[in-house]
Amino acid sequence: MTIKFKVPATSANLGIGFDCMGIAFNLYNFFEIKEANNWIFEGFIEEEIKKNNLFLKSYLKAAKYKKIKAKPLLVKLKSNIPMCGGLGSSSSLIVAGIYAFNLINNNCLNKDEIFKIALSIEKHPDNIAPAIYGGLCIINNNEIMKIKISNKWHFGLWIFNYYINTEKARNIIKKEISIDDAVNNVSSALFVLKALEDFDIANIKKIMNDKIHEPYRKKLIKKFNIYKKMALQNGALAFVISGSGSACLSISDKDLSIKENDFKYINVKIDKDGVRNV
Ligand code: HSE
Repeated sequence: MTIKFKVPATSANLGIGFDCMGIAFNLYNFFEIKEANNWIFEGFIEEEIKKNNLFLKSYLKAAKYKKIKAKPLLVKLKSNIPMCGGLGSSSSLIVAGIYAFNLINNNCLNKDEIFKIALSIEKHPDNIAPAIYGGLCIINNNEIMKIKISNKWHFGLWIFNYYINTEKARNIIKKEISIDDAVNNVSSALFVLKALEDFDIANIKKIMNDKIHEPYRKKLIKKFNIYKKMALQNGALAFVISGSGSACLSISDKDLSIKENDFKYINVKIDKDGVRNV
């Protein structure tokens, strides 16, 4: 029997919430799985299958966690999550591998266990959590809280044709910050959570007040300041790096119409449920 499911794209940090906020969007990687005699992967990047097959690694980890023999699968992927970095494409494969194991084994895992296994493979809960639970997730020491936000927000994904390695984007961040900057980040993040909940257009711009990562990382995003200006001039209320980039994220009160040859722009809305059958 073939089973189909989908995993949403995610955006970590939401500017001000470095390593502790993430959101899921209605842009999905679709998976079809079926028991088979050997592992067969269709629609995956050949090199990734050979060198770092995150789906298989995660599936096997789940099998080990449950002490159940791993059955091989035919896995078909229809990938819609861009691979430029910053939109949770790796997390989607990890969550999919564990979710597939769960489906094949009579739903023996709950979402919290899926989260725990996924985190043992990738240390970015701000991508993993929204991919599993959906919505806006805040994370503290690997504990998750899902926050209800207004349905009225519109989000825009700015997708560039180059990849940024997360490790590289983490290594350029200064390891120490001043008390003033720490207070700025904490207080802005609190304002932003309330603004997201209340559809507060005036305060959502505080999402751009980050002093921890964006001042360093924006140097890795070609023309970051130009695109930020473009976003704001075209009706965005805020513009930030999505995760560690290169993708960027804009927030607005309506869909934006951005057409450029240099990059791809997609309007999205929040996904509230995370990974699920289709
Ligand atoms: N919070 C992580 C970072 C997410 O910004 O490095 C990585 O996708």
